[in-house]
Amino acid sequence: METQLESQDSQNSDLEIRRARTSDGVQIHALINKYANQELMLPRSLLSIYENIRDFHVAVIDARIVGCSALHFTWGDMAEVRSLAVDPEAGKRGIGRALVEANIAEARQHGLVQVYAFTYVKEFFAKLGFHVVAHEAMPRKVWMDCVNCHKFNCCDEVAMVLNLVDGADPEPFDVSQVNVPTVNPRSSNRG
Ligand SMILES: CC(C)(COP(=O)(O)OP(=O)(O)OC[C@H]1O[C@@H](n2cnc3c(N)ncnc32)[C@H](O)[C@@H]1OP(=O)(O)O)[C@@H](O)C(=O)NCCC(=O)NCCS
Repeated sequence: METQLESQDSQNSDLEIRRARTSDGVQIHALINKYANQELMLPRSLLSIYENIRDFHVAVIDARIVGCSALHFTWGDMAEVRSLAVDPEAGKRGIGRALVEANIAEARQHGLVQVYAFTYVKEFFAKLGFHVVAHEAMPRKVWMDCVNCHKFNCCDEVAMVLNLVDGADPEPFDVSQVNVPTVNPRSSNRG
């Protein structure tokens, strides 16, 4: 069956969607931070991209990275789609959709029940089946990321979720899940 991407114009004929490699890090960093400078995305350091490079899929045309998107696991049954960016010169051809679909396919392979995004492009994610929820409905994200974000008290991103399994809810959040166990250094057995 023809995919939506394949039905786009012939400019996509050399397009490849693949997992990222460490050698893609610099181009991913430049793409994300071009949009971050316009306040359309949150900025990321090159270090955080290398540390999380296995989260990423990239879109490649003629050896150039024209898009990226990351699936970041945040619990055993859920993950966040983040750092989605498509070069404006390659936009509106289905590349963003293809990247997020690659993230969703990976989430399904892992048996996740939900993926979510915090975004300014509500209409884009709605086309992929995501629906809007209140930020309070995503306490794990709030406790893990938002508390460290410079926009914590003035966040204007929309929280959106896509349920992958009919009738299955993600495991409820308990704040103890983000606690690091305390270790008594004198009694610990390092190694
Ligand atoms: C948002 C973004 C990833 C979309 O990438 P893209 O490759 O142009 O999107 P696609 O061509 O795959 O679009 C898929 C669908 O969403 C729609 N869409 C794309 N961007 C949209 C937007 N900004 N507003 C409304 N609808 C949009 C398209 O019209 C298309 O609809 P269709 O399936 O009915 O034809 C890209 O514009 C971008 O990188 N924006 C800046 C960074 C950003 O906002 N990232 C998201 C952070 S969460």
